[in-house]
Amino acid sequence: MADLYHILAAHDGREGPLLPILHDVQAAFGHVSEEAIRAIALHLNLSRAEVSGVVSFYHDFRRTPDPRTAIKLCRAESCQARGSEALAAEAERSAGSRVRVETVYCLGLCSVGPNAMIGEDLHARLDGAKVAALIGAM
Ligand code: FES
Repeated sequence: MADLYHILAAHDGREGPLLPILHDVQAAFGHVSEEAIRAIALHLNLSRAEVSGVVSFYHDFRRTPDPRTAIKLCRAESCQARGSEALAAEAERSAGSRVRVETVYCLGLCSVGPNAMIGEDLHARLDGAKVAALIGAM
């Protein structure tokens, strides 16, 4: 937990530190554990319920580790209008238990959707075959 205390210290004095801390914890550990929630709450003088509520509210935060690589599919309006729902079904079929399929709402490429993100890479103008190929290469 030494890294956790470094993360907490790095945000000391910052206004509204909870979300940045949670993002850093998620990036460092791959999830936000109960132990981390307890330490964050204590450090920020919040209740564990307040911190847990924020962790639960945002889909990006996980309470348990999941070592699978993730593909993030945009299912916001513009991508929906361009077929993201069919794409999601194909992604789930192709992913099996090896790849995690996550939903995001807008990747900022609305005019060239449907879109997805793998790691830091954006993929635009997807169709079922392209998403299956992307997942196959993961
Ligand atoms: S709606 Fe999908 S990238 Fe904006």
